[in-house]
Amino acid sequence: MADLYEKVMDVAKRRGFLWPSFEIYGGSAGFYDYGPLGTGMKRRLESFWRRIYCIEEGFHEIETTLIGIESVFDASGHLKCFTDPIVVCKKCGEAFRADHLLDGVRDISIPEIDKLVKSSGVVCPACGGELGDVEEYNLMFSTHIGPGSKRRGYLRPETAQGIFTNFERLLRFYGGKLPFGIVQIGKAFRNEISPRQGVIRLREFTQAELELFVHPNDKKHPNFDRFSSKRIPLLPAPNQIKGEDAVEMKLKDAVENGIIAHEVLGYHIALCWDFLIRAGLDPKKLRFRQHLPEEMAHYAADCWDAEALTERFGWIELVGIADRTDYDIKAHALKSGKELKVFCEYKKPKKKTIVDVRVDMGKLGPLFKEESSKVADAIKKLPKEELEKDKIKVEVDGKTFEVDGGVVEVVQREIEVKGEKVTPHVVEPSFGIDRIMYTLLEHSYYEDFVEGEIRKVLKLRPKLAPIPIAVLPLMSKPELIDPAKKIVHEIRKSGFMCEYDERGFIGKRYRRFDEIGTPYCITTDYQTLEDDTVTIRDRDTMRQVRVPMKEINKVVHNLILETWNFEKMRERYINI
Ligand code: GLY
Repeated sequence: MADLYEKVMDVAKRRGFLWPSFEIYGGSAGFYDYGPLGTGMKRRLESFWRRIYCIEEGFHEIETTLIGIESVFDASGHLKCFTDPIVVCKKCGEAFRADHLLDGVRDISIPEIDKLVKSSGVVCPACGGELGDVEEYNLMFSTHIGPGSKRRGYLRPETAQGIFTNFERLLRFYGGKLPFGIVQIGKAFRNEISPRQGVIRLREFTQAELELFVHPNDKKHPNFDRFSSKRIPLLPAPNQIKGEDAVEMKLKDAVENGIIAHEVLGYHIALCWDFLIRAGLDPKKLRFRQHLPEEMAHYAADCWDAEALTERFGWIELVGIADRTDYDIKAHALKSGKELKVFCEYKKPKKKTIVDVRVDMGKLGPLFKEESSKVADAIKKLPKEELEKDKIKVEVDGKTFEVDGGVVEVVQREIEVKGEKVTPHVVEPSFGIDRIMYTLLEHSYYEDFVEGEIRKVLKLRPKLAPIPIAVLPLMSKPELIDPAKKIVHEIRKSGFMCEYDERGFIGKRYRRFDEIGTPYCITTDYQTLEDDTVTIRDRDTMRQVRVPMKEINKVVHNLILETWNFEKMRERYINI
């Protein structure tokens, strides 16, 4: 019997959500295309993400290049660290992730994995042939920029680096002040060794990332109270080691007890939870799991993954929420030679004692002639205790000079310091849009039995359904078609996607729309001709109400934007 993945993918492929890329040439693992309905749903998911992060949270969005130059990924650590161990079969040439061929191996070096592969007698899982040496394999796709092969470029493995390399300009855009955040939605690329998990592990995928720049010593969130009493299923690293399951915790308690490192991380875990639930994922199949130290990315000090339970793949990562500290900004500052710092004012100016060293050049000049200014500079750099001696000695260009303490005057004064330059820390929620898309389909899919037949339903939220409304004349008769087409025209004019369908029995048409997640179908029938009312059918309950035609636009607007649900419709209109 088909498992849930097969059932979901059957609908996805048949109805135009997801298709394997290059199918006419046999396809290629790790590449999927979105069909018309998949594209519509993905755009809606991305719009909903923008609604939360750009509009509700107020972060601006940028769009940076997909190709990065070598310096970027040299600085970011991806050239050196973004690798997996690879082993290739000597007989059939198939490549495998070497650590995946060994049970329970984590975080050991390439030579150690090589030794283990050889000593354990593992053979090629595809053909049983002998395996070659284990080597390090970089997951970035590389290319050349311009003609010739001198300038190497890479397809970005994350959208984040485009934000970090624009840090100076972004800081200026935000008026030179912390905290500030920038989001980016776009493609990222990872040349996975052997992706075998269908749409779950893609070589080209869409990320939605927020890079939030905060003061390194202030990771409080001004709106933490909004979520502080929210209960979220958390699986901290120590509990995983003990083999425990996630437990629901109040966010405030998790932060106060140090389970979640700080309020900013906590706030973004809760915001992510809110987004995923409002998008329509099943809250009983969601949790936040903290990374174990050995799985942490090279740039992260702490990371929590939003994971969803799927039938075939178990718990899969949908979102990573990491504290990247100052890793990236420091690395780009070092590589570019730019000072990537922010001047932060103290709450109250601080007093600081300054020591001025004044050298009497009138006395030094005649003594050391042209060398006197170098000697004076060297004296000014001496520690205070040296300057207090009767005879002061300094070395300049390998020569020792001695002067009387009297030529030097040390003056202390107090100044007021308004602030200091800091390298900001980065908190990053990073969403894998394609995995969320698949999981939404799986969590939404159900079958029931109606009129002796299996009814396949995608219980998508109206705001994400690619076709939120369909208009169906009860029968293919001109007197019912005309008002139906008029309604389609009105709904489309008010900005909503609306399908028209007059093919076949009404029951079959309802099934076709149930299967693609259309939450509401409007039908014109013979009563329409008498009293200008139409029926609206709810996908999930299959119940219907009669609504005056003149109210259709208002009703559709409220239903799709989810300001009304069908219960409300049943209170306001005639149930049938
Ligand atoms: N930016 C985080 C990641 O790509 O995993």
